Amino acid sequence: WSYLGCRSGIKRKSESCTKNNTRAKIKKEVRLVMDINKLKILFTEEQIQNRIKELADEMNNFYGNDEVYAICVLKGAVMFAVDLVKHLNMPLKMEFITLSSYNGGTSTSGKVNAVDISLPDLNGKNVLIIEDIVDTGLTAKFLLDFLNCNFHTKSTKFCSLLDKKITRTADVDADYYGFEVDDKFLIGYGLDYDGYYRNLRYIGYVDKDDL
Ligand code: IMP
Ligand code: MG
Repeated sequence: WSYLGCRSGIKRKSESCTKNNTRAKIKKEVRLVMDINKLKILFTEEQIQNRIKELADEMNNFYGNDEVYAICVLKGAVMFAVDLVKHLNMPLKMEFITLSSYNGGTSTSGKVNAVDISLPDLNGKNVLIIEDIVDTGLTAKFLLDFLNCNFHTKSTKFCSLLDKKITRTADVDADYYGFEVDDKFLIGYGLDYDGYYRNLRYIGYVDKDDL
């Protein structure tokens, strides 16, 4: 009972202290909820899942029964990685790292922030990096350089659900990608706007003026 009492005490205190903050937050949330009505669907759940099965077939053919370390780049790639690995048949281990290059907005900061990049020994292993989208390519380049500097892998493959080839500045290419996309700010199926919308089962876009 003391735990509950303590929690509600804190809540009451913080509520009274941050009334203005809360009001601003609610206003922001209302704006975000309204924006979802302006979302234009680019890839439906069915299209995404069908393409994932095709990618998995290619990977099953390539790796055969060889062990794979699948590295999911959080947070954006979480949905894609989870759905993709369900169709992979080889012995597989999943690893998770967290990188960020957007600061909550709709364009990259130009710097890759390695929030958590702890990995096991990948020497002699088949490494499959799983990303949500390659945009400028800075994140992909950073990660590939990092792996190159630290490990002698058996193979390193980069897989991204989406590929914005048109905005590429770094010299990198995905070995596997689901769909090529235009220079639009995409949300859903792991991709976020200010942390929201990752939970959508489809991928859509909002015109930048509507954000
Ligand atoms: P890059 O380093 O510019 O290639 O950007 C890579 C990261 O930026 C991705 O892993 C995403 O997390 C994020 N990103 C790029 N484009 C979009 C988008 O259209 N919507 C949401 N996130 C994006
Ligand atoms: Mg990402």
